[in-house]
Amino acid sequence: MSQEMVRLREEALASVAGAGSLAALEAAETHWLGRKGAVTGLMRQIGALPPEERPAFGQAVNALKAAIQEAIESRRSELAAGESDRILRTEAIDVTRPGRVPMVGRRHSFTATVDRVAEVMVGVGFEMVDAPEVEEYRFNFAALNYPAEHPAMDEQMSFYVTDDLLLRTQTTAAQGRVMPARTPPFRIFTLGRCFRVDALDANHHHTFNQVDGFMVDRHVSMADLKGTLALMMRELFGPETVVRFRPDFFPFVEPGAEIAVRLGDRWLELGGAGMIHPNVLRGVGIDPEEWSGFAFGMGLDRMWRVRYGIPDIRLLYENDLRMLRQF
Ligand code: DAH
Repeated sequence: MSQEMVRLREEALASVAGAGSLAALEAAETHWLGRKGAVTGLMRQIGALPPEERPAFGQAVNALKAAIQEAIESRRSELAAGESDRILRTEAIDVTRPGRVPMVGRRHSFTATVDRVAEVMVGVGFEMVDAPEVEEYRFNFAALNYPAEHPAMDEQMSFYVTDDLLLRTQTTAAQGRVMPARTPPFRIFTLGRCFRVDALDANHHHTFNQVDGFMVDRHVSMADLKGTLALMMRELFGPETVVRFRPDFFPFVEPGAEIAVRLGDRWLELGGAGMIHPNVLRGVGIDPEEWSGFAFGMGLDRMWRVRYGIPDIRLLYENDLRMLRQF
């Protein structure tokens, strides 16, 4: 074997042994044995030799080729075995591991509060109705006897969709929607989201929740209102709960009152109430000489916060599991 062949053989075997992957081995094979490879190049030289040297040369090149091929095959099986070892190692499944416990959902503490309020309302004979969050100006304000310049209608306070459509600022808007289709007596309530332009802080949010109830019948009086609300508050906050009514103004009631309940040593203002204003009744086709009614509206977020000791109203909308999991 010529010097050149010895060198070539060593180089080839070293490069085959050093191939770190099947792809690298493939490249080495092409380099040494391919059509343009070094060994093929040697073969081509055979024609230039004197005839008597050709058989020996040919044998030597064939032996070289066979040696390289053999090295490649054995390296190939080594690499393939390594590959399947790696797959077995990295893709192994430990069937003895305990399963992952899926997260189980549950009612939001706020939903639980709202459901409880609805339960109590139904318990005192009120029928639940649904009313839209995007409300017509006439139901949100006009039907509720708002004087033309009332500040609550200021664009600063409401989110308007068009001049006639806005995100309702109070669930009281349901009154004008529901009452025209009914004949007294009736007891109805609705609850849900309301919206006002307000800067966010611990106690204010552009989105908040209210419940509104109204009852129309013959001879309904302030005493019925107080009795109904006192009953409701005791159901919600415990049998010892004291309810306070103080004079207040809302365009859609006369007289109007602010409602508060005593919790521990402080008063919690929950909303407003009063006797439905004759203008409101007239507006929905109910004769105020024959019928009278009371109405009340309260903030649900407040109730939720008191019930669970929630310090910041923004927690209601952040959906932080660290908060939610506590209840
Ligand atoms: N809608 C009033 C508010 O958001 C609360 C209210 C007061 C509702 C008196 C009523 C009511 O139904 O009679 O401040």
